[in-house]
Amino acid sequence: MTEAELYTLYKGVYVPTLVHSPDSLKYYEEFTFRPDDVLIVTYPKSGTTWMQEIVPLIVSGGDPASVESLPNWDRVPWLEQNQACTLHLEQRASPRVFVTHFHYNMMPASFLEAKPKVIYVMRNPKDVFTSCFHFFGSTSFLVKPGPQSEFLHKFLNGDVMFGSWFDHVKDWLSAGSNERIMYISYEEMILDLKDSVSRMALFLEKPLDAEVIEKIADRCLFKNMKKNNMSNYSMVPREVIDQTKSGFLRKGIAGDWKNQLTKAEAEHFDAVYKDKMKNVNYKFVWE
Ligand code: A3P
Repeated sequence: MTEAELYTLYKGVYVPTLVHSPDSLKYYEEFTFRPDDVLIVTYPKSGTTWMQEIVPLIVSGGDPASVESLPNWDRVPWLEQNQACTLHLEQRASPRVFVTHFHYNMMPASFLEAKPKVIYVMRNPKDVFTSCFHFFGSTSFLVKPGPQSEFLHKFLNGDVMFGSWFDHVKDWLSAGSNERIMYISYEEMILDLKDSVSRMALFLEKPLDAEVIEKIADRCLFKNMKKNNMSNYSMVPREVIDQTKSGFLRKGIAGDWKNQLTKAEAEHFDAVYKDKMKNVNYKFVWE
């Protein structure tokens, strides 16, 4: 199926229609944030599910009840997706934790007024591309990637769900108000998960004992999260996400692009990256 059949164009980017009804998009536009909410922001395939495990564990002081009993999409809902409207989020106790794939310029008025804390997670775009390539091929609600060279062209042009990786990252990096936004990368989390958890806990003003941090980091290791049925998408029917084609928690490593892109594709990617990111003053771990 084509973009026109599967996607809705919303504020200039494609969103998958199956999970983004007009009502859910309106719900987000009218959503009332609280200053003590925590919003995780990611471009797709950058570590969203990982954060849906880590942040609730930090906020609960290491209590695993929510990660053991609630699916990730109820535990830390996407505010733009259908299920958010059904969860009575206004009744949830603070601090509430949400996630979004929206660009900064798509955020609703109440976000700008309430200024909740944001953790923005970035990942090497070549690995994002690789993860997308496998994931898009395993779902029924996304346009199939087609041949790799074609998908690469689309990805670099932003003709994929949630638009351009470059625009997303640049938009959030220039969002200002730095004490309210923590920037972290997937690669830093891979390199040192304990340190990453500890820094996030400090940012969220929830300092934790070393022993608790160790437990959280251990629970959030790829091999352990893959076994958590509340986080590994095993509850989603095969017609929607066919994990026999590609597991949702697929490889969980940094640098898998080296197994995916040809030399010429990687060089082309680098050239586009260099051009699009030339005015960005931020030192990315993968550079
Ligand atoms: P791969 O496809 O490269 O394996 P998102 O949740 O934003 O859709 O991102 C999915 C990517 O994050 C997948 O990448 C998935 O394996 C990876 N991921 C999920 N949980 C992880 C964890 N605990 N450790 C490392 N990577 C994780």
